[in-house]
Amino acid sequence: MNEEQRLQSGKLKPLTGSTQETGEKDYSKYFETVYTPPSLKEAKKRGKEEIKYHDDFKIDERFAGMGKGRKFYIRTYGCQMNEHDTEVMAGIFTSLGYEPTNTVQDADVILLNTCAIRENAENKVFGELGHLKPLKLERPDLLIGVCGCMSQEESVVNKILKTYDQVDMIFGTHNIHRLPNILHEAYMSKEMVIEVWSKEGDIIENLPKVRHGNIKAWVNIMYGCDKFCTYCIVPYTRGKERSRRPQDIIQEVRHLAAQGYKEIMLLGQNVNAYGKDFEDIDYRLGDLMDDLRTIDIPRIRFTTSHPRDFDDHLIEVLAKGGNLLDHIHLPVQSGSSDILKIMARKYSREHFLELVKKIKAAIPTVTLTTDIIVGFPNETEEQFEETLSLYKEVGFEMAYTYIYSPREGTPAAKMVDNIPMEVKKERLQRLNKLVNEMSAEAMKSYAGKVVKVLVEGESKKNPDVLAGYTEKNKLVNFKAPRDVIGQIVNVKITEAKTWSLDGEFIGVVEEDKVMS
Ligand code: 5AD
Ligand code: SF4
Repeated sequence: MNEEQRLQSGKLKPLTGSTQETGEKDYSKYFETVYTPPSLKEAKKRGKEEIKYHDDFKIDERFAGMGKGRKFYIRTYGCQMNEHDTEVMAGIFTSLGYEPTNTVQDADVILLNTCAIRENAENKVFGELGHLKPLKLERPDLLIGVCGCMSQEESVVNKILKTYDQVDMIFGTHNIHRLPNILHEAYMSKEMVIEVWSKEGDIIENLPKVRHGNIKAWVNIMYGCDKFCTYCIVPYTRGKERSRRPQDIIQEVRHLAAQGYKEIMLLGQNVNAYGKDFEDIDYRLGDLMDDLRTIDIPRIRFTTSHPRDFDDHLIEVLAKGGNLLDHIHLPVQSGSSDILKIMARKYSREHFLELVKKIKAAIPTVTLTTDIIVGFPNETEEQFEETLSLYKEVGFEMAYTYIYSPREGTPAAKMVDNIPMEVKKERLQRLNKLVNEMSAEAMKSYAGKVVKVLVEGESKKNPDVLAGYTEKNKLVNFKAPRDVIGQIVNVKITEAKTWSLDGEFIGVVEEDKVMS
C-alpha cells in the first residue's frame, strides 16, 4: 500500500496547516498526531548552545496504569549503547505498569531498537517487520514500534511509511524519555506516530532502568559523537558529544556497587572525548577513571575509545590498575595512513603505533582489541596488507572486522564504492584468519595458569558447566557449584581453544581489589 492508498484507507488522516519539513516528501499533511520526522542534514549541524541537564524525569499522572494487563517485548540490534537504551525503555514500560515478555506472540507492544551502522543490520530489521505483519493483522490492537538509530534516517522513515503499514510508532534516539507520550498517542489515534528529533543537546538523568542481570552493568558517561569519520552514520543518529556530569556518574557507580554489581562497563561512542564539552570544569576521562577506581567495585571497563583523544593522563591513571582493567578496546579501522586520512580518523599508522607503545610501556600486561573495516573506497592490496602487518605488530588479541558498507548521508557514500564485493570478502577472510590465529596464540599462553573469572552463569552449550570472563574478557568454561555465580573465582586453565578457555575451579577470590 502506498501513502495515497493508506490515506484513502483511513489509516492516516489529512491534516491541514502543518509546516513540518520532511526531507524527500512532505507527509505532514497526513497527520494530526505527533509528526516530527528526522533530517540527517539538521543532525549534522553542531550548535554552540549549552547542554541542558534534566534531573526531573517523571511519568505524567495521565499515563499512570497505562500498562496494566499489558506486556512489552523489545528486540535490540547493534551496540551496547542500544542494549542500555533498551534497559531504559524497559524501565519506563515497567513504571507504566507493563510486564515484560520474551515472545512476540504474547506481547501487546513490540519495539525494535535498531542499528544503522551497516546495511545488513538494517535489512534484518526490515525482514523482522515483514515477519511481524501477520501478527498485526491477527491482532490489530498490537502496537509495533521502531526506535534506535535507523529511525533517525529520513530514508528509513520514508520506506516504513511507504511499505510497512504494520508499524504504529517511530521514535528516535533522543526521544526515549518521551515513550509514555508516544504510546499514549499511539493508543489514542491509532495512526502512525512519528517523533524523531534530529538535534538534541540535552541529558536526562533519573530515567528508570531495568538492568539485564545483577552482575554486570552498563553506565553511560557520554552521548553522541563529533568525530564524523567519513564512513560513519553515528554522529548523525546519536547527536553531538555531550558528557554526563561526573557526580551523576560517580553516584550511579556507587549505587551499583552497593547493590552488589561486580563489573561496570562505561559507555560512550567516543569515551575519550569525555569532558571536552564542560565549560566550567577541566575534567576528562582520566580524572573520571581516577575517581571511579576508589569505589568499592571489582571491575571497571570502558568502550569505545578513539585513538586520537587517548591522552597521557588517562594512560597514567589506567596504569594504577586495581579495579581499572588492563584490557583496552582501541578501534584502529585501517593500518594504512592514506586510508585513515580519507576515513578522517585524524591519526596516521605511525601515531597509532606510537600510542600503542606508550600504553604498553605504562601497562605491560595490557591486552588490546580493535575494530577494522576492509574494502573502504580505493583501498589497494598493499594498503590492506598494511592493516594485516599493523595487526601483527600491535599484537591485537581480538577484532571486530567489517566489510565497508556505504551509509547514505555520510561523506564516504559520495565516494565510488570501487572495491568489488569478491575482493572485499576475500580481504575479510584473510584478516579473519589472522585474527583467529592471533587469538588462538594469546589463548595458548594461558594454559596451566590461574585466572580470575567473574562467573556469569551456565555455559550456553552445557548447563552443567559454568561460564564467565577474565579481566581481559576471555571466556572461561569450568565446573563448579552454582552458588559461585556472581562471584569472582580462581580457575586453573587446562585447555585453550581459539575463542575460549576450559579450566578447573580452584576457589572464590577473597582479596579486595579496590585501591584507596
Ligand atoms: N561500514 C562498515 N563498518 C562500519 N563501522 C562503522 N561504520 C561502518 C560502515 N559504514 C564499524 C567501525 C566501528 C564499528 C562499531 O563499526 O569499525 O568501529
Ligand atoms: Fe563513528 Fe568515528 Fe564517532 Fe566511532 S568515532 S562513532 S567510528 S564517527
